[in-house]
Amino acid sequence: IEKCHFGDSKCLVRSINDFVRNYPKNAAEIGLPTLDAINVKDVSVPEKPNDAPIYLSFYFTNNVYKGFNNATITHVTGFNKNPTKDQIEIQARIPSLVHEATYHMQGRYLLFVANTTDKLLSDYQNLQLTITIKITLEYRNNKRYLKIYELVPKADLDRWIVWMDNLYRENTDLTIALNHIMNEHWVEFWNGVEPTILKNIATCLEGMLSKFFETVSYDDMFLPVEIWNESSDY
Ligand SMILES: *[C@@H]1O[C@H](CO)[C@@H](O)[C@H](O)[C@H]1NC(C)=O
Ligand SMILES: *[C@@H]1O[C@H](CO)[C@@H](O)[C@H](O)[C@H]1NC(C)=O
Repeated sequence: IEKCHFGDSKCLVRSINDFVRNYPKNAAEIGLPTLDAINVKDVSVPEKPNDAPIYLSFYFTNNVYKGFNNATITHVTGFNKNPTKDQIEIQARIPSLVHEATYHMQGRYLLFVANTTDKLLSDYQNLQLTITIKITLEYRNNKRYLKIYELVPKADLDRWIVWMDNLYRENTDLTIALNHIMNEHWVEFWNGVEPTILKNIATCLEGMLSKFFETVSYDDMFLPVEIWNESSDY
C-alpha cells in the first residue's frame, strides 16, 4: 500500500482505493474491521401520525450491510499533519449497498392494518456517500491515534429497491402489491426513512472506521514528515 504525505488528497484517494481492492481476507484476525458484511445494532423508523391514511412504522433487527467492499473513494480532504485542524471529508460511490434485516412492521395502508415480522431485503443502488468526520487524538506509545467524535453521512442514490416478505401474511396479493407500490414510489418512501437509514449507515461506518483508527496509528498511515517540511503546516 502506497503511503502518502499528510494532506495529499490525490495520493490518499489512490491509496485508499488500492487498500479497499486488496483488502485483507483475514481482516478480523489482524484486528481490522470487515468490509464485506457488517452487522449493525437495531434501528427503528419513527411512526407516522395515527390518523394518516397510510402509516408504516418499522423496527429493524439483525441488520447486515453488504457492499462496502465494492466502494470507490472519489474524494478525500483533511488528514493533515495536525488532523484536528480541518474536518475530514470522504466521498465514496457504492454500486450496490445491500441491507438485510428482520423487520417488525406495524402500519396501516388505507383499510388494511398490518403487524408483521419477517425478512427485509433492501438495495441502495449507485449510492454516493459523503462522510464528514470530526476527530480527537489519543496517544499510545508516543504515537497518535484518531478517535471519532462525530460522523455525519450524506447520501444520494439512483434507486432504492426494497422487498419485505409477508407484509400481509394472510394475503400474498396484498404483500406483492404493497412491495410494488414501495418500489414504484421509492422516492417518497426513501424521503420518509432516509434520516433513520442514514443513522444506521453512520453507525456502521463509525464502527468500521473506529476499529481501523484504533488499530493503525495515524503516524504509521503516512510518510514521515521531512525536516525541511516540518515547518510547513500540512
Ligand atoms: C461486490 O462486487 C463483487 C464483484 O463484482 C460482486 O460479486 C458482489 O456481488 C458485490 N457485492 C455487492 C453487495 O453488491
Ligand atoms: C403486534 O404483534 C405483536 C406480536 O404478535 C403483539 O405483541 C402486539 O400487541 C401487536 N400489536 C398490535 C398493535 O396489534
